[in-house]
Amino acid sequence: MTSEEAYPAERDPGVARVGRRGARRAFLAAALRNPGQFGALAPSSPSLAAVIASVAPTTEAPVVVELGPGTGAMTTAIEGRLAPGARHLAIELDPRMVGFLRQAHPGLEVVEGDAVKLQALLAERGIEQADAVLSGLPWALFDDATQVSILAQVAAVIEPDGVFATFAYRTGMALAAARRFRRTLHATFDEVVLTPTVWRNMPPAFVYVCRRPRTL
Ligand SMILES: C[S@@+](CC[C@H](N)C(=O)[O-])C[C@H]1O[C@@H](n2cnc3c(N)ncnc32)[C@H](O)[C@@H]1O
Repeated sequence: MTSEEAYPAERDPGVARVGRRGARRAFLAAALRNPGQFGALAPSSPSLAAVIASVAPTTEAPVVVELGPGTGAMTTAIEGRLAPGARHLAIELDPRMVGFLRQAHPGLEVVEGDAVKLQALLAERGIEQADAVLSGLPWALFDDATQVSILAQVAAVIEPDGVFATFAYRTGMALAAARRFRRTLHATFDEVVLTPTVWRNMPPAFVYVCRRPRTL
């Protein structure tokens, strides 16, 4: 089964409410307004979202935190995997994206805030540990200190057997910021695995799946 068969548009409650075209339009408008915060002109494809979501736990009542959900491309795929009782939070900086997500994903706990305050934002909601942190953040746009700070907080909040996943564009792999990010991932986690390239995404992308924070 392809990921698009696994997550077809007609089974996507968010899309049913606002429309996939509406999501693309909202994303493009926000990205043009604030390119330094988005790093992309279109949401992730269902194929890429399915790969990221595939690491979300299917256990009873997990806590899953999404960073930079945008219009919710990954959110939908993650929701499709989570068992009843799961707590699914999404931390998003852009207030219009926050409004969009609240309309499209009523079951999601949408937190308007900066991922750089991850631990404080979770602590305010009574959460110290998460089973998975799944990111759509534009890492290549962040400076070194911001990358290190967010990743250190991710490492601190995930359970010892938890997982962190994030995507990167294949075309940008050789850029200095991407190489720096990769080094920081390896410094933060014992295990960093790259998935095969997801060609059905514009631009093609892959996912880093990271486990066993070194700080443990
Ligand atoms: C490339 S878009 C990805 C959106 C979505 N995850 C997807 O895959 O289609 C990046 C998103 O991260 C958000 N973002 C950027 N910096 C952030 C930060 N420091 N904290 C929280 N969200 C942030 C942007 O507003 C945008 O919605």
